[in-house]
Amino acid sequence: MKTIHELKAMKRVSRIAMITAYDACFARMAEAAGIDMILVGDSGANVVLGYASTREIGMDEMLIFVGAVRRGAPNTHVVADMPWRSDVDVPTALHNARRFMQAGANSVKIEGAPLEILYALEKEGIPVVGHLGLLPQTATSFKQAGQTPQEAAQTLADAIAVAKAGAFAIVLEHVPDSLGALVAQRIADVPIIGIGAGNAVDGQVLVLHDALGMHPFRQPPFAKKFVDIYTQGVDALRRYAEFVRT
Ligand code: KIV
Repeated sequence: MKTIHELKAMKRVSRIAMITAYDACFARMAEAAGIDMILVGDSGANVVLGYASTREIGMDEMLIFVGAVRRGAPNTHVVADMPWRSDVDVPTALHNARRFMQAGANSVKIEGAPLEILYALEKEGIPVVGHLGLLPQTATSFKQAGQTPQEAAQTLADAIAVAKAGAFAIVLEHVPDSLGALVAQRIADVPIIGIGAGNAVDGQVLVLHDALGMHPFRQPPFAKKFVDIYTQGVDALRRYAEFVRT
């Protein structure tokens, strides 16, 4: 498993490949594929549990996902996503982050720039991944973030503050490519892991179900599909049903 130090050092030498996973089966595949970091994202609310919003998943479900991913990928860095309101204040965030670490996570991810909480986690020795740009837990629309000069300047300022507060990597979601490049260039020692932030960043993350084409829904414009498992799976199950009936 890559250490935090090794992951940070990748900024200068190669790109970090991160993918989400929610169970042991796909975590095992991610580890076998040499993925650098697995994110147990609150996107599991949508892609696994069928909820309409990431706000609908809680700590109890996320802890089950984190434990399963740890068992499937014992040698890969696992990031646990702090779900909606699990980091509502410092004591709550510390309590829930500790639960994730006990369940097998190596770090936690927090949306936005709640600096007091980031400093408290740093003091507690819990590694943190930041998350800026489009923030699904609080966004009112899923349009690209950071489009105006003011929004772009705020995103850069937040990234600098989050890095200073101790985050060892930052996910940057759905912003103009130029802003992704600027943030990656201005933050010297913290890898910027993009999802829809262009290719001049230090790594990429995708939602597993988008990357593997595991659902029939429209994907975000930046989510590249590497295989169409949904179509192949439906076809295989149709053939199975036919086999049973005949
Ligand atoms: O929950 C998630 O999958 C995420 C990614 C979109 C980065 O936060």
